[in-house]
Amino acid sequence: AQNDKDSQYIVSNWAKDHYHKLLLESEEGQSIGLSYLRQRGLNQQTIQTFELGYSLDQWDDLLKAAEKAGYERKYLEKTGLTIKKDDDQGQDTGRRYDRFRGRVMFPIHNVAGRTIGFGARTLKANDKSAKYLNSPESDIYHKSDVLYGMYQARQAIRAEETCYLVEGYLDVLSLHQGGIKNVVASSGTSLTESQIRLIARYTDNVTVLYDGDAAGIRASLRGIDLILEGGLNVRVVLFPDGDDPDSYIRKVGDQRFREHLENHSKDFISFKTDLVAREAAQDPVKKAEAIRDVLQSIAKVPDPIKRQVFLQQTSGTFGIDEQVLITEYNKLVKSAG
Ligand code: CTP
Ligand code: MN
Ligand code: MN
Ligand code: MN
Ligand code: MN
Repeated sequence: AQNDKDSQYIVSNWAKDHYHKLLLESEEGQSIGLSYLRQRGLNQQTIQTFELGYSLDQWDDLLKAAEKAGYERKYLEKTGLTIKKDDDQGQDTGRRYDRFRGRVMFPIHNVAGRTIGFGARTLKANDKSAKYLNSPESDIYHKSDVLYGMYQARQAIRAEETCYLVEGYLDVLSLHQGGIKNVVASSGTSLTESQIRLIARYTDNVTVLYDGDAAGIRASLRGIDLILEGGLNVRVVLFPDGDDPDSYIRKVGDQRFREHLENHSKDFISFKTDLVAREAAQDPVKKAEAIRDVLQSIAKVPDPIKRQVFLQQTSGTFGIDEQVLITEYNKLVKSAG
């Protein structure tokens, strides 16, 4: 029901403020959370803009504070801020504890600016649990519909007519702080259609800036076809292996980072071509596979004129006769349809 959802928004907003205050005002928040964020190069302004926070390293700080403030437990539970404690038989004991403990908190906003969930990073060097914990799905939080940072980025995306897509929270924060405000994160999962529709509300142009490791490159390749299907134009920028946009901008500074974006941004065909060329080298079988791979991507482009241009471009890059390529393309499309 609507009331139920409203209550979930309200308690999420309250929790966001609670974590934010703990970061800035509590001793533990300052000495552990804030000093961590400072050490990662984030300034006061960025912390405010993204309403970053800290959860105390206790089992029930949020639970107690919520009770004191008069919030019903049921909404803490529905938003995943607390977790049920079961007994050994898996029966609900009625007891609850905080999901997020001793972590830096990244509130996730919807495009209207309301807090709908959280990402939370551990600060322990060798934490046995995950580096990031995230809110579970709820009535107000659908992970696959959300892009981290969209609320803070949307005006810049319109103005710059481009959306930079990164993997992580820290990438969004560092780029935004470096003056690149048209940036959102897929938060480490595969891009979804609904996230692409969200971007398409603001721009037709996406530049993918994934981590410079094998996983990041694979993820960019997967993302590209979906973005193309959504009718958007895709460019890709790679970073040196081992770097992500956050570590790279911290290493080289804002100005050289911008230059890197300008000098190394490739349209999706050149990106795929170069990748494959690197791998295939002189192997004709691999090269043929590579070309088919690019053709598959071109087939996803809804605009026939753009498709035509891409086919011409591919023919040029690979040095393959355009008619031969088009014949092959038509075969592929038929066998796929
Ligand atoms: N992520 C996640 N759960 C994990 C690991 C990652 O949800 N266990 C998501 C987070 O949104 C994270 C993104 O995937 O920001 C990218 O992951 P990674 O590159 O490992 O994290 P970074 O943002 O680079 O984190 P950091 O620089 O703080 O190590
Ligand atoms: Mn949904
Ligand atoms: Mn990574
Ligand atoms: Mn990182
Ligand atoms: Mn990363």
